[in-house]
Amino acid sequence: MPRQHRPLPSRRNTTRAMRNLDEHTITAEVLGRIGTKTDPRLRDILQSAIRHLHELAREVNLTEAEWLAGVRFLTRTGQMSTDVRQEMVLLSDTLGLSQLVVAQSHRRPPAATEQTVLGPFHVEGAPVRISHGTMLGDRSPGSPLFVSARVTNGAGIPLEGAHVDVWQADGEGLYDVQKPEWELGRAQLRAVFCTDEQGRVSFRSVMPTHYAIPTDGTVGEMMRATHRSPMRPAHVHFRIVHPGFDPLVTHVFAADDPYLDTDCVFGVLSTCLGTFIRREPGAAPDGSVVNVPFHTLDYTFILHESL
Ligand SMILES: [Fe+2]
Repeated sequence: MPRQHRPLPSRRNTTRAMRNLDEHTITAEVLGRIGTKTDPRLRDILQSAIRHLHELAREVNLTEAEWLAGVRFLTRTGQMSTDVRQEMVLLSDTLGLSQLVVAQSHRRPPAATEQTVLGPFHVEGAPVRISHGTMLGDRSPGSPLFVSARVTNGAGIPLEGAHVDVWQADGEGLYDVQKPEWELGRAQLRAVFCTDEQGRVSFRSVMPTHYAIPTDGTVGEMMRATHRSPMRPAHVHFRIVHPGFDPLVTHVFAADDPYLDTDCVFGVLSTCLGTFIRREPGAAPDGSVVNVPFHTLDYTFILHESL
């Protein structure tokens, strides 16, 4: 006659908790597996993620096929992500998560320039250019644009020595990193400047146009499946860094663009609208003569002092 195994009462209680889990009791068990020595912040985030994921599955009665489709979607999104094709960032952006995190991380007084998403097309290590007189897009299609940017503190005092990282799409809506010939040494429409004693930089580029985010990947699949517009309004990106101030990542949007209210990454803020003025051929702000119509943009960025 086989010997009967009779577990200790405490062991039996543990066994009960770990087995026979159903769709309701499994959540507490998973939460309980997080070790007591886990970093407190990691524990908080992971516990919340588990609770919300489980609740999502129960709320929509997620099927196995749907779960597998989701896993494959995220797998493919990760597999196609590179330094210059950041599909995961694009997924976060188009789900509104990026702008949500930005908004709650950079609450600013009304006078300061607001923060927006970095987006998927920023590249670290862009070439450093002189403060005035650089042409950023000598091989880029589009009509000329002359940008004059000023950086101040909240009291209007110019900030000398601020690093101004600029990147933008060309007149056909493409970033240099989206082109086959891309390499950092031949960057187009991206550079880092340093403000002069008046807090200013100026450069020539091309007038950006509104553009569709890349739709040949998993994010494009999601946009089509949900009948969403992939369009972004025309803009120039800026990242401005100066000691003692909260680093500013923002866009300057063309104030008359038709896609301002349907930006697919939810990044348009009223304080980030710029007036791109169309000019007739003639003398340009940099002293040159331009024989085609061109645009000018004059914009002041107000940094917020770090606490
Ligand atoms: Fe952009």
